[in-house]
Amino acid sequence: MNETPRYAVIGNPIAHSLSPQVHAEFARECGIDLDYGKLLAPVDGFAKVTQAFFDSGGRGMNVTAPFKGDAARWVDSLDDNAALTESVNTIDFTGARSRGHSTDGPGLVADLTHGWGLTLTGLRILILGAGGAIRGVMPAFLASQPKRMVIANRTLARAESLVAQFQHLSTNPLEAQSLDLDDSQFDLVINATSGAFDAPSPRIARALNRALCYDLGYDLQQDTPFCREARRRGAEDVRDGLGMLVWQAALSFQIWHGVLPDAEAVLCRFIRASDCFGESGPCRR
Ligand code: ATR
Repeated sequence: MNETPRYAVIGNPIAHSLSPQVHAEFARECGIDLDYGKLLAPVDGFAKVTQAFFDSGGRGMNVTAPFKGDAARWVDSLDDNAALTESVNTIDFTGARSRGHSTDGPGLVADLTHGWGLTLTGLRILILGAGGAIRGVMPAFLASQPKRMVIANRTLARAESLVAQFQHLSTNPLEAQSLDLDDSQFDLVINATSGAFDAPSPRIARALNRALCYDLGYDLQQDTPFCREARRRGAEDVRDGLGMLVWQAALSFQIWHGVLPDAEAVLCRFIRASDCFGESGPCRR
């Protein structure tokens, strides 16, 4: 008897992950039989838990914080995005050797372009934050050739280090700035900070006004603090990262199963199923 193919998402913490529900929806839609679970690994235990999963017949794994760097070191080979970002969110073990992919950047770009309808080429983009979340999406972002990209971070040296790492992928100069910003002229503001978004500097507050504002984080029940602040400051439109979560999962699904599920349809079902679709909630679509 054939065993149902097994997949999982690994992280620490992992209880909050929506990936099992998203992949179950995709599987149902595509008529594919699979079992997708969650794996909690100790912070120093990625390799052991991952090896055990694949030794017991696991076919593929999604990887979330804090293990994306560990995963990039663990796999036998990397796709271009994963090599450039030193970050893996998808491991494919359907062959004899493991291959690491990063679908975070393509997932973000797909959500911005297919989900939100934006054309990134020619936009002036402000990124707040310079940690792992933004590093993982930089190559895909830069491939869409924005007109200007400023990375602003509380610790300026981390923004400078990101600029140095990715400048060669950009046709225009990347700029590293502090959170005080040199100016406020942006079309799209992306929040990639992990702290509470309160008391933005006067120039960041001005940058939010009439800009498109996107938070890499998401909250199913209410606006994230960044989305709330962006609305308060008069943003032209506001989105959170639920769409990116579903799109990066769809691209992982395609790597494993060779078919791209309808991410937008699944996203809409998720939003409708959550409590946030009422008039007072953060209606994302
Ligand atoms: P992640 O992998 O989620 O990006 P990270 O690598 O810890 O996590 O990066 C978190 C980002 O949020 C960093 O840019 C961090 O700024 P520093 O580099 O100065 O630490 C930013 N961040 C976290 N808390 C913040 C806060 N309270 N105000 C402003 N920026 C904050």
